[in-house]
Amino acid sequence: MNTPDIVDPVLGLIDWIAAARERGEPDPQTATLATVDPAFARPSVRTISVQIDTDSLVFFVNAHTGKGQQLQWHPYVALCFFWHGVQQQITVEGVVEALDAVDADRLWAQRSRDSQLTARSSQQQAVFGDPEAFRQRREQERHSYDFEHVPRPAHWVGYRLLPTRLEFWAAGWHRQHPRWLFERAPDGGWQSSVQEP
Ligand SMILES: Cc1cc2nc3c(=O)[nH]c(=O)nc-3n(C[C@H](O)[C@H](O)[C@H](O)COP(=O)(O)O)c2cc1C
Repeated sequence: MNTPDIVDPVLGLIDWIAAARERGEPDPQTATLATVDPAFARPSVRTISVQIDTDSLVFFVNAHTGKGQQLQWHPYVALCFFWHGVQQQITVEGVVEALDAVDADRLWAQRSRDSQLTARSSQQQAVFGDPEAFRQRREQERHSYDFEHVPRPAHWVGYRLLPTRLEFWAAGWHRQHPRWLFERAPDGGWQSSVQEP
């Protein structure tokens, strides 16, 4: 079995996302993100929305949340995309680097105003004790920026993924699922191999 027509696996991932969308996958940029709490060496996972920024992958988190704290101390992550309709999966491992303010603001500006206001009002790490207090905070934010640009709050942090290992998986007959592995080589290029099904 030959490696599919993929030279750069990050561009290959972006192509598979586009292909999944073309074939009707409703939200192909949704992935499961695993992070590690360095204090306890335990993983944790959750769903995130991944954005494509030219030829790299970025995502945003609230810095006060569990993953937000973990990423500040331990930048190693794993991501898993699974597209049910096309029966394909890509897993990615690597490190993340925080976006600088210019890039973070640029991508923040692409969010809807409603989502920006919620991000500013949300204390995602806290127990949701008082919905009315949240509603009032959000209303306050809305009034503060009536007809104005909504600024990105400092706790809304973007990360760029720098992958070191990607595995492409496609469903095959009788459990013979082809898998193509790409690992970062010492010279900065990629080494590819076909894995046993
Ligand atoms: C489809 C979907 C997309 C999501 N996208 C994000 C996201 O981009 N960033 C984020 O911080 N949380 C996102 N969430 C919420 C997270 O899954 C999670 O509940 C929240 O961030 C708290 O995570 P933590 O306590 O593990 O840090 C998304 C959830 C779903 C279901």
